[in-house]
Amino acid sequence: MDEIKVLAPATVSNVVCGFDCLGFALETPFDEMTVRRISERAIRIVHHDGFGLPTDAEQNVAGVALQALINATELDHGFEVEITKHIKPGSGIGSSAASACGAVVAANHLIGERFTKLELVELAMAGEMLASGSRHADNLAPCIYGGFTLVRSTEPLDIVEIDFPPLYATVIHPQIEIKTSEARAMLPKDVPLREAVRNWSNLGSLVAALAKGDYGLIARSMVDTIVEPVRSSLIPKFDELKAASLAAGAIGGGISGSGPSVFMLSITHETAISVERAMHAVYSETGIPFNTYVSRIGHQGVRVA
Ligand code: HSE
Repeated sequence: MDEIKVLAPATVSNVVCGFDCLGFALETPFDEMTVRRISERAIRIVHHDGFGLPTDAEQNVAGVALQALINATELDHGFEVEITKHIKPGSGIGSSAASACGAVVAANHLIGERFTKLELVELAMAGEMLASGSRHADNLAPCIYGGFTLVRSTEPLDIVEIDFPPLYATVIHPQIEIKTSEARAMLPKDVPLREAVRNWSNLGSLVAALAKGDYGLIARSMVDTIVEPVRSSLIPKFDELKAASLAAGAIGGGISGSGPSVFMLSITHETAISVERAMHAVYSETGIPFNTYVSRIGHQGVRVA
C-alpha cells in the first residue's frame, strides 16, 4: 500500500474538571487526510482548504508529527500529506490534534503498523508542542483511541480508556481568537488545597459516573472552580450559554479545551438539538459569527476512509 486516506475526528478536552487529562472524541466534524509514500526522505504538505496553514513541514503540526515518526524509524522514504480540514484551526475542538493524529495513524498503516496507539499519541505530541508550546495529550488520546480517555501521565505516557453511556455533544464555536498559549498563561500556577480536593473529587466521580452510566452523577461532577472561572471571561455570554443549555435539558458542559468553543452534553439527540437552538438564541444577540455542531460521542478515533 502506497497511499491511504483517513478521517481524523474533532475532540473535546478538559471536559470541565479534567484539565489537561480528560477528553472525548466527536463523530463530526472530522478532517480528511491522504498520506502517500514518496521516495525522498522528506515531508510534503498540501492543503485543500482555505485556512492558510503553513506548508513548511517544520512549521506544520502534521509535518512535525510525521518527522517524529520518521526519526523513530529507519525509513528510507518520506511522505506527502494532502489535508482537507473541516475542523477550524483555533476552534478549541482539537484541530491541531486531528492533523497530528491523522498524519501519524495514516503513515503507520503505510509502514505496516509498527507503532501502538500509545506510541502514536507520543509521536503526535510533537504536533501539540508546536501548536501550543506544551506537551499535553488530552485531545490526542481521544483522537486516536476514540471515546473518553484519561491521560494519567505524559511522562511516561499512560492512557486510560473509559466506558461511557450514550451521550450527545452540542458545541458552539464563537469565531473569536483565543490562543491556547495565552489561555494557559493566564491560569494560576498554584491552587489552594481546598480547590484541589474539590477538583479531584469531581474528576474521580465523573470518571466513575461515565463508567457506570450514571447520568445524574455525570451532571453533578461537571464542576470546575479552578480553570473555568478564569478562562470563561474570554468567552462572551459564557454564563448565559451555560444557563440556557441547562434549561434546554443539557446535563452539563463548559469550555471545550482552551476555548473559544463551548460544549454541552445531553442524553438524547433530540435534547442536543434543543440545546443547539438555545445556544443560537443566546449568540445571535452578540453579533459575533458562530458555528454549532451536534454530534454523538464517537467510539472511533482516526479511521481509514
Ligand atoms: N488541555 C489544554 C488546555 C487543551 O486547556 O490548555 C488545549 O489544547
